[in-house]
Amino acid sequence: MHSDEIANLESTVDEASLRRSERLSDDLKAKIQEDASPFRMLTGDRPTGRLHLGHYFGSLKNRVELQKQGVDSWFIVADYQVITDRDAVGEIKDRVFGLVTDYLAVGIDPAKAVIFPHSQIPALNELVLPFLSIVTDSELRRNPTVKAELDASGNRPMSGLLLTYPVHQAADILFCKANVVPVGKDQLPHLEQARVIAQRFDKRYGRPAGATHPIFPRPQALLSEAPSVLGLDGQKMSKSRGNTIELGMSADETAKLLKKAVTDSERRITYDPVNRPEVSNLVQLTALATNRDPHEVADEIGDGGAGTLKRVTTEAINEMMAPIRARRLEIENDQAIVEQVLRDGIARATEQAEETLREVHEALHMIYLS
Ligand code: TRP
Repeated sequence: MHSDEIANLESTVDEASLRRSERLSDDLKAKIQEDASPFRMLTGDRPTGRLHLGHYFGSLKNRVELQKQGVDSWFIVADYQVITDRDAVGEIKDRVFGLVTDYLAVGIDPAKAVIFPHSQIPALNELVLPFLSIVTDSELRRNPTVKAELDASGNRPMSGLLLTYPVHQAADILFCKANVVPVGKDQLPHLEQARVIAQRFDKRYGRPAGATHPIFPRPQALLSEAPSVLGLDGQKMSKSRGNTIELGMSADETAKLLKKAVTDSERRITYDPVNRPEVSNLVQLTALATNRDPHEVADEIGDGGAGTLKRVTTEAINEMMAPIRARRLEIENDQAIVEQVLRDGIARATEQAEETLREVHEALHMIYLS
């Protein structure tokens, strides 16, 4: 979730390896469609603010889809990561509850998903220690996403937590032996680090007695295919720019915001993201909300101008959001639902993390008492 606050991250991953990751991700997607049963996904967000339509189209919708396909679904609320680049956590409890409320509202099924804040799972966090022994400080310093985060956080010195953030994220992924990690391009270096850790652990420390497989499978990235959605000012949609449509906004608030959206003075509406980013963004939002082709949407509005475009976009979004909002409101009014989801998620994740830590201790010959 933090990715949207960091400028130009895409340039941190070189083109060739990006193409390769995209190919692998496409293969993975095809395999999941064929048979989802061997797959466990883990992904998550930092509880830094409210989720918006950029998150919805960019990742949440896809997560719901994967869950519906039958992928075992684990979602981490990365609360410790909030303090990688800021001094205080702020109203963290509200934001954690808000995040889970958003997850449930968009259709993540809590009966099947495991949802938990990683701060509540001591055995998960303990994996960071052995993992730290198999990474070098220079490889951490080279991590492009860590560098970008450092740059984005102003003049801060590099904290130990930020430096070791990819290792912590590897623990998030590996503790539950996830093999699918739906992420944006900016997270690829972290995923690569997790893959390296999985493999090095096996090489360096081996396996529990009698085990035929490495403790940690190498996780694969599933890249989001959705085109990125811009904010209402034509800039990247991001909390920090105040140009977002949040999932928690009402239909009226959405209409008001869209009325103020930046457009241009050309009457004919076209879908031309390069030359008309603002207008095309509204066309695209409409297309995404109604599952249609953006060119078709633009043609239909034709000479209707920006006024018609905004009206059509508002209707499309509000219609798509109506059931999500209704569900959101229900959950907001009954936070015991969220509490129960967290309670179940923490229990399940704890059980899994303890099991994995036990295997790690076995591989390290650190079992002393029977
Ligand atoms: N670092 C991710 C982000 O900022 C959030 C995250 C934490 C995550 N742990 C994860 C994502 C594990 C995927 C897998 O968006």
